[in-house]
Parts: sequence; structure tokens; C-alpha cells
Amino acid sequence: MAERIDGKAVSAMVKDELKERVRKEGIEATLAVIQVGDDPASTVYVGNKKKACEYIGIRSLSFELPEETKEEELLDLVRELNEREDVDGILVQLPLPPHMDEDKVIRTISPKKDVDGFHPQSVGALSIGQPGFVSCTPAGIIELLKRSGVDIDGKECVIVGRSNIVGKPMALLMLRENATVTVCHSHTKQLKEVAKRADILIVAIGKPKFITREYVKEGAVVIDVGIHRDAQNKLCGDVDFDDVEPVASAITPVPGGVGPMTIAMLMKNCVEAKGLQ
Ligand code: GUN
Repeated sequence: MAERIDGKAVSAMVKDELKERVRKEGIEATLAVIQVGDDPASTVYVGNKKKACEYIGIRSLSFELPEETKEEELLDLVRELNEREDVDGILVQLPLPPHMDEDKVIRTISPKKDVDGFHPQSVGALSIGQPGFVSCTPAGIIELLKRSGVDIDGKECVIVGRSNIVGKPMALLMLRENATVTVCHSHTKQLKEVAKRADILIVAIGKPKFITREYVKEGAVVIDVGIHRDAQNKLCGDVDFDDVEPVASAITPVPGGVGPMTIAMLMKNCVEAKGLQ
């Protein structure tokens, strides 16, 4: 039976530490949160981010723009927030409506306020080991592994998924921790065999319950980034939890695994953004 890696508990610990730091050091940070349209999942995520801000003592400003907003209007808002001295972090919730160019919007955010770590300058800094904001989900996974006592140095890490938000920065972070890293994707041949090499298997492919025990080495640590609803409308991940749990040594549940860590790391980035202005 695998140990359950409790992302909710670890996230609560990180948030409490941040809250204490904000109080002790008198940090007054402000996060601007922009949502375009009313995608229900985005509304839930944005609500959770604002709630976390309130808990820690970070001021949040909400900008809710209608779906039909012109790209130039959004870019103007981002430019205005870049200039505002009372704003430390800017978050544009993704996905944006199809008539908007996400890359262009991300590039417009000042790297000093890029608390999501999506700007090419932030990604470039990460790739050469220089300081900068790191994408919150992969940063949260590192924090979760470390605080759960999982040793990364020298381990075989296989990442399934190569997105800009998770897979690629995850690979860079695991490399920084001295893991041997393999990144798999939809064109990978013999995915099962490759995944089975992993001491630490990180799954972010966006397919519900895709990873079964045939992909997992006995005793592996399994980290599930996916979030979906199954046929019974129950939340599930990219990993078939019930099938994999008996062979893993540790595994993150969905919900309550990686998800809460993403928000905790966003909060950490917001507190750190204050020091850059
Ligand atoms: N949409 C899904 N995940 C994220 C995230 O981490 N940041 C933003 N801005 N949008 C998202």
C-alpha cells in the first residue's frame, strides 16, 4: 500500500509559513488577477487564488473582462498594471478566448511581475539556472517531494507530458535537483517501458486514468498532475489511482495532491515579487 502524499496538508504548511513571514516582515504585496470570459473551471481556480491571498494577507485586485474583450484592450490593461507601483504580481488566467494570442499576452507581462513564471524570460532564466519566477505547478511538485521526504538526487525521473506550463519546466527543475530526466509525449514509442524506468513518475498528459500499473515500477513515487471528472462525475487524475496505488511506494491523490501546491507556490511568488519592485 502506497503512502499518500498529502498536498493539502503540505500546502497548508507552506501557506502558514508565508502568512507568518508576511506578518513578521510587514510585507504588503498586491496580486492583480485577470479573467477573460466566464469559463466555470477558471472561475473556481481564480476564486481559490483570491481566497489564498486573503488568508495570507496579500491584497488581490480582480479584473473580470467579458469574453468579447478585444485583445488590445487586455494588452492595455496588462501594460497599465506593469506600470502601477501598487501592483506586484500579474496573473492572467488561462485559457484565453480563441481570438486572443496567449503567447503575446504572456510576453506583455513584465517579467518582474510574472508570478505564473510563463514569460519567455522567466523560462529562459530557469533553463540556465538563473533567478526568476518558476511555473507554480512544477515548483509545487518539487516542494511536495522534498517535504514528503522523497530524495530526488540521482533518481530516474520520467515526465509524461511536454507542455510549457508543466512538462518542460518540470524537466528543468528535476535536472536542477540532479535527477536523470526523461520526457515522454504522444510520439514516444514504448511508453510503458520508458515510464517503468522511473523512480519518480510525473504524469501531466491530460487523459483521465491513462496511467495504469503496467506503466509503473514496483516502489515508484507517482505524481499526478491531471484533473478530470470520470463517468460518475467524480474527480480523477491522469493516473488510475486504485490500480496504481498497490504497486507505488508513494502517490498523490486527486483531488488533494498537486492542485493545492500550485496555489501555495503562486502565493510564494507573490510574496517574492514584492521584493523585486
Ligand atoms: N490555467 C490553468 N492553470 C493555470 C495557471 O497555473 N495559471 C494561469 N494563469 N492559468 C492557468
